[in-house]
Amino acid sequence: MNSHILEARLTHDEIIRKYDRIASIYDLFGILMEWKARQRALNLASIHEGERVLEVALGTGLNFVEILKRNSCGWVDGIDISMKMLRRAKKRIQRTGKENYTLYLCDCRHLPFEDGTFDVLMNQYMFDILPVEDFVPILEEFKRVLKRGGRIVLVNMTKGEKWLNQIYEEIYKLKPPLLAGCRGVFVQPFLEKIGFKEIEREFVSQLGFPSEVVRGFKISD
Ligand SMILES: C[S@@+](CC[C@H](N)C(=O)[O-])C[C@H]1O[C@@H](n2cnc3c(N)ncnc32)[C@H](O)[C@@H]1O
Repeated sequence: MNSHILEARLTHDEIIRKYDRIASIYDLFGILMEWKARQRALNLASIHEGERVLEVALGTGLNFVEILKRNSCGWVDGIDISMKMLRRAKKRIQRTGKENYTLYLCDCRHLPFEDGTFDVLMNQYMFDILPVEDFVPILEEFKRVLKRGGRIVLVNMTKGEKWLNQIYEEIYKLKPPLLAGCRGVFVQPFLEKIGFKEIEREFVSQLGFPSEVVRGFKISD
């Protein structure tokens, strides 16, 4: 399989504008094509009651409400750079009646948390819209805020393993806006590079849409 990652097409400001614009229709895509991978990620994260969890780029909160369900006695923080995605997330979360969370409008390159704060960090379908040069600095920031022994669970669009999956990468090449700027990526080598251990990767396909679910552990700083 070709492991070359295509160039990202959206700048930071374009990402904010894009996700502000598509916030109201995002869930359709998020449920139809990504639901299976999200479930797998939640299983791999195996969040225990009482843990401190961060979801980076929580979007409209599809995964965030699932984290809250699994962690009534802990605390969950969520961040995103799109105000409109965050507003949608807030409405969805308010319907759960849970109050053990905080949401922040901020950039994941500079997280507003102390070193070693979180037991678990989840992040879904964000690296697949970002330039490859950003992967290492962002993952270093994720590692900084994790506790020793903490786990990271990332979900992204990846390259297809069968012809049906590969259609999506072809769509990206022709018209990146149709996939909201997402193209296939592989994050495992980047996690290895900055010292995450015991890394596992799984491939998940839904309606042919290819996702990877990757989990790693922070063993040392
Ligand atoms: C494809 S959506 C995924 C949303 C959500 N994680 C999900 O899986 O449904 C990408 C999200 O990443 C957010 N995002 C992109 N760049 C970001 C950054 N630098 N910091 C924080 N959030 C970012 C966008 O605003 C958007 O909500």
